[in-house]
Amino acid sequence: MKVFKEQFALNNYLKTKTVDSIGLVPTMGALHFGHLTLVEKAMNENNCVIVSIFVNPTQFDDISDLNAYPKTLEEDLQKLAPYGDKILVYAPDVRDVYPGTATSSNRYTFGLLETTMEGKKRAGHFQGVATIVHKLLAGFNPTRAYFGEKDYQQLCIIHQLVAQEQLPVTIVSCPIIREKDGLAMSSRNRRLNQKERSQAPLIYATLKRSIALKTSSSLEEINHIVTSTFEQNPAFKLDYFCIADARSLQPITTIKPDQTARAFIAVKLGDVRLIDNVNF
Ligand code: PAJ
Repeated sequence: MKVFKEQFALNNYLKTKTVDSIGLVPTMGALHFGHLTLVEKAMNENNCVIVSIFVNPTQFDDISDLNAYPKTLEEDLQKLAPYGDKILVYAPDVRDVYPGTATSSNRYTFGLLETTMEGKKRAGHFQGVATIVHKLLAGFNPTRAYFGEKDYQQLCIIHQLVAQEQLPVTIVSCPIIREKDGLAMSSRNRRLNQKERSQAPLIYATLKRSIALKTSSSLEEINHIVTSTFEQNPAFKLDYFCIADARSLQPITTIKPDQTARAFIAVKLGDVRLIDNVNF
């Protein structure tokens, strides 16, 4: 494993090697087993893997959320080291990514994909995500780039970005990895206290319950049941629950025979905002 703080140094190193495929795994660090499954998939499909570790400031609409984001570079490098020489880590300072004095997003048009759920709740979030991912894709020219379905809306935005900007990369989507009790793995989980951590499995349990209700209840009724579940558990504050078309991400009230639906949820548990989604 080699670690680079500068993009040009990593690219210079790559010029000295013969690599016929590069896999890119963009992350914000605080790596957990979910991230590592993306790394492993990239390792199996490419002969060189770049893992980027960068807490991207432009995708945070809330400065306290940015400041609270865990930064654990030493631990992260220890988790990546066993993968050996095929791994190149890009762990830049902000100025390598955003040269000059302005730390701001590019402007993209993602239409309705961006005005729902996370995009609606977190102003400018996907502009920031698209900016950093565009910079990484253009800067390293990977053959494939790996993203988790944990951030399903992000995945849709990235597909759109790649199509719009005609970027020569294959986007590989990876399934959500969960803890034994069902909680989707997330860097934010480490911010939960013991009590909150014991309550957190309710999120996935409620998503599973919503699927089970499909045969007996309308989508409107399911919405009510989910809302009241969290009202009865005051530790949680439900931000949204949304059953949406899996491609357009627009909310639906019935599922057409040829339609794929997905259920999305965002809740606050204490100070920590958690998201999850399931094929519905
Ligand atoms: P981060 O939250 O660190 O996630 C990095 C990648 O790991 C994303 O593609 C995310 O969907 C995936 N991931 C996280 N938890 C997962 C889980 N439990 N199962 C499967 N995949 C999981 O997402 C970001 O960073 C940033 O927005 C980024 C794309 C790096 C741009 O800054």
